[in-house]
Amino acid sequence: MHDRRVLVLTGAGVSAESGIPTFRGKDGYWRNLDPAKLATPEAFARDPKLVWEWYRERRQRIRNAQPNPAHKAIAKLAQHTQEFLLVTQNVDDLHARAGASKEKMVQIHGDIFVTRCLRCHFQFRDTGRGGSPEPPVPRVIYPHSGRLRSIAPTSVQHEQEQKDIPKCSKCSALMRPGVVWFGEQLPWGELRRVENYLEDGPCDFVIVAGTTATFGYIVDWALRAIASDGELVEVNPEETPLSQFATQRVREGAALALPRIVDELVISRSSKL
Ligand code: APR
Repeated sequence: MHDRRVLVLTGAGVSAESGIPTFRGKDGYWRNLDPAKLATPEAFARDPKLVWEWYRERRQRIRNAQPNPAHKAIAKLAQHTQEFLLVTQNVDDLHARAGASKEKMVQIHGDIFVTRCLRCHFQFRDTGRGGSPEPPVPRVIYPHSGRLRSIAPTSVQHEQEQKDIPKCSKCSALMRPGVVWFGEQLPWGELRRVENYLEDGPCDFVIVAGTTATFGYIVDWALRAIASDGELVEVNPEETPLSQFATQRVREGAALALPRIVDELVISRSSKL
């Protein structure tokens, strides 16, 4: 009996119950902040300091967060499924901290703890859990203006701030967070991994959790994966462009729904999986 194939696609909603804001949901980042000022190559060229402050704040928030039962359930499903791939849009490390292995996970929008050189692409990954906290952020966020207002930095602070923009130890160019910004290509290697998995055959089971499926490739991958008769389970309190294709629409939070769905799958179909 051929082994069953599973694809899981996740978005910010899966980390919401770990205290990480979504982007477009209530209190989502893009409700208060302007992505054009924080998450584009142009924004970084214009004000790298502002962009780094936002990413440092997000890194700190992620460090202080813990994987929730949704992350743990997905890691469990991966352990019980031979042919499995998790494709996450999340740049946080909560899937990995819940036990999802690198071999069975694609972070298609990058990794927030990676710092990469703009010029020579030298990069390093630092979760900062080695006790090297991020430099303090001497600024406050004014939600509706979408701008970070500075508390007039003194000259010493200015020097410190300049130091806060990482410079490449190889070529001294500016370094940026290792994430995919609006208007940028998806990382080729990761894209290839998704395509290879889809080309290896249709999936019997696809879970799409916590994403508005804003990007066409997410919808495309889910529909190609289920092909003709695969099951598509959508876990999201809200409707998305994928809802019409779902064989199951679970309008609950992922931390509650996913452990149940995975247990059902693993236990009830353990003989088949
Ligand atoms: N459980 C499940 N789903 C949830 C939960 C929850 N507890 N809370 C919110 N959601 C759903 C929301 O209803 C919404 O549909 O999660 C979705 C979050 O959507 P977005 O904020 O748009 O996040 P995402 O789909 O991951 O965004 C995609 O856009 O901003 C860019 O690069 C960024 O990776 C991100 C991409």
